[in-house]
Amino acid sequence: MTRMMRQGTLPLDQAPFLMLSDPKMSVRAPEVRAARAASWYARTPYGLAILRHAEMGRLLIHPSLRQGSHNWAALNGVHSGAFADWWGKTILVTEGADHTRLRRLVNPAFTPKRVRTLMPAFEALTESLMADWIDTGSCDFMADFADPYAGRVLTILMGMPGGMAADILRFAADMGLGLGVTYKDCLPRIDAATEAMCALVQAAIDVRRTAPGDDVLSLLVAAAQQQNGLTEEELLNLGVMIVFAGVDTTRNQLGLGMSLFIEHPTQWEALAANPGLDLAAANECMRLRPTITWVTREAVEDFEFQGLPIAKGTTLHLMSESAGTDPKVFDNAPFDITARRGINYGFGGGIHVCLGRIVARNDMAVAYRLLSRRMTNIRPAGAPAYLPDSGNTGPICLPITFDLR
Ligand code: HEM
Repeated sequence: MTRMMRQGTLPLDQAPFLMLSDPKMSVRAPEVRAARAASWYARTPYGLAILRHAEMGRLLIHPSLRQGSHNWAALNGVHSGAFADWWGKTILVTEGADHTRLRRLVNPAFTPKRVRTLMPAFEALTESLMADWIDTGSCDFMADFADPYAGRVLTILMGMPGGMAADILRFAADMGLGLGVTYKDCLPRIDAATEAMCALVQAAIDVRRTAPGDDVLSLLVAAAQQQNGLTEEELLNLGVMIVFAGVDTTRNQLGLGMSLFIEHPTQWEALAANPGLDLAAANECMRLRPTITWVTREAVEDFEFQGLPIAKGTTLHLMSESAGTDPKVFDNAPFDITARRGINYGFGGGIHVCLGRIVARNDMAVAYRLLSRRMTNIRPAGAPAYLPDSGNTGPICLPITFDLR
């Protein structure tokens, strides 16, 4: 037996192969489960997919890896334009001392203490959106709740007028096409949305310069005014990134959570009976059905991991859904919001761990808690539509019907 196999690692030519580039391939498919049972990694057309929880946790903090989306535009044959220029300078693709400096400057805007001050606004928002349809006993959960909720949460957080939420949602959705396989085909639309989003955020920054408030954008503006603080370009890039990164993720994750609760009505009832389970509910939804089903890393040097040689430039997809359902850690655990669970990687990990995770976890917890207080017996009211079940996923529409408590 080779040293590699003693470390539980199959040689590359014996490792399972997953067609990860096929949009029709589900990250929950039996072949992914079979690959995970056989090996902690699989080969893919992109490079490697990491399938188990322990290895994902270790690789998220591995010093030989960097965030893997930095050359996304170039890979798609796009070398300039508003989206490519912005994406190439976002915090997500920044590494080293610059990344540490950016996180040090923005982290204070996302502390648990600050997020606690936002909870009443998230509660009021949930109630006001629900009021529009609750008495009808049905809604499209995405259009009537998840979309406007995610958009308004961002305006609350950033201290922007609530009326901007619809534009933010629209621009972010079009910009999001820039991270899809049709990037080049949709270039004019993507670049126009990026320019519009930059103009919208710049206008909000200009307002905050003269009329600061107690919001994230004001804190970023203040960080630009301090010595060695943010440059003006970093300020705008970060403002746009926060809005972009926070909207689609939150709407998709809310919808995926609701789809789980529809399949597991006893869990919805458990939450209604014990509202203190709200954060556990948000976490458990992310464990089983994360919207970001993988995070990308790239090897910056040749290195060996558990006996497997990984060459510089190799792309690794760390599969959060597969890690979150890994029987070695979760023991085939079903959806159970009352269970004590270990960490899941729906917010990534390591230096690029989601900046907005405390906001997102709490705003989703508020939404599930207050919705469960009024709604029961939730069931589908027509066919839902979903994005492909790989990459960034979630419902496009989720028609439901329910009874009132
Ligand atoms: C349910 C909602 C959300 C999910 C599932 C999510 C998920 C993620 C994940 C997986 C990453 C890490 C990517 C990587 O390691 O490669 C990330 C990064 C990031 N997220 Fe989130 N996110 C959510 C909401 C938010 C919100 C609300 C904000 C802002 C208010 C936000 C801002 C960011 C930023 C700025 C980064 C980049 C951090 C860095 O590179 O240092 N996210 N997010």
